Amino acid sequence: MTGNRTFTMIKPDAVGAGNIGNILQKIEQAGFRIAALKLLWLTEDKAGSFYAVHRERPFYGELVKYMSSGPVVAAILEKANAVQDFRKLIGATDPVKAEAGTIRKLYAKSIQENAVHGSDSDANAKIEGDFFFSVLEQF
Ligand code: RTP
Ligand code: MG
Repeated sequence: MTGNRTFTMIKPDAVGAGNIGNILQKIEQAGFRIAALKLLWLTEDKAGSFYAVHRERPFYGELVKYMSSGPVVAAILEKANAVQDFRKLIGATDPVKAEAGTIRKLYAKSIQENAVHGSDSDANAKIEGDFFFSVLEQF
């Protein structure tokens, strides 16, 4: 059975480019309900914990610096089959490879500065949502 929630961040490049509204509109128009939402600036320490699964990857240091380079929008999204459908909506990690009409094709600058994050499993969606939002902030 698939879950009905996923977690997303609008990353610093997309926030800096003034695309918060455009991206939230794409998300709502695709049928996701916003169940939690906030704008915040991650410390390097917090960004490092969030992407700890990538600690051994060559791009980890750059990724942590980038994700703490400016504010991000964090959100929990609700929809049937949320994790899979959201990853389809955002497109491939590298915007060059992302399908036309996807959020990354429209708004990402590069494989690193790729506009949005999307959870890769139901279990991680729950862990990531709880990392940013208390029970009182999830509706
Ligand atoms: P995300 O976790 O942010 O939704 O992205 P993803 O699943 O599509 O990609 P993942 O492999 O989990 O990578 C996490 C983020 O690291 C940056 N990255 N840089 N320089 C590189 O080769 C490279 N590869 C990945 C991206 O910001 C990617 O979204
Ligand atoms: Mg990932």
